[in-house]
Amino acid sequence: MSEAQTIDAPAATPFERIGGLDVLREITQRFYDLMEQDPAYAELRAMHAPDLTEMRRALPLFLAGWSGGPRTWWEENPGKCMMSAHGGFRIDQRTGAQWAEAMRRAIADTPVPDREIGDAMADVLDRMARGMARD
Ligand code: HEM
Repeated sequence: MSEAQTIDAPAATPFERIGGLDVLREITQRFYDLMEQDPAYAELRAMHAPDLTEMRRALPLFLAGWSGGPRTWWEENPGKCMMSAHGGFRIDQRTGAQWAEAMRRAIADTPVPDREIGDAMADVLDRMARGMARD
């Protein structure tokens, strides 16, 4: 491969490496299934609305734009900051850790095409979720 070709070749985004929107949807379905079914996440579940249909639709769209893919969530929510949107919830170390753990399991349970990027996403989301805790 020539030098010019090397420079021109665009690096794959994390969105592409994880397998795109279909895989992010699979991860999210597993995440909310775990939240609904495993008593270890009961406190986290109780914070959410009884019907998780909208969350199952919105979270993959957020993760898509966040990882370098289509920015549908931002187009649907102009000016909205996902971190500030969580300011009204009483997130503490326990519930932050429940979110992080359920997401780590959901990614591990999903056959992602690139395990390295799956693990990297789990690590970053873990830090973000625990970072939302205020006590
Ligand atoms: C990196 C971590 C997180 C991400 C990416 C994330 C993402 C989201 C998104 C995209 C929404 C929907 C907002 C909208 O579309 O308007 C949402 C809602 C929500 N999130 Fe998070 N979240 C995270 C961490 C957490 C944590 C740690 C908690 C609690 C411990 C939490 C609790 C909630 C609740 C209660 C809602 C509202 C759900 C409802 O009304 O049913 N989130 N989150």
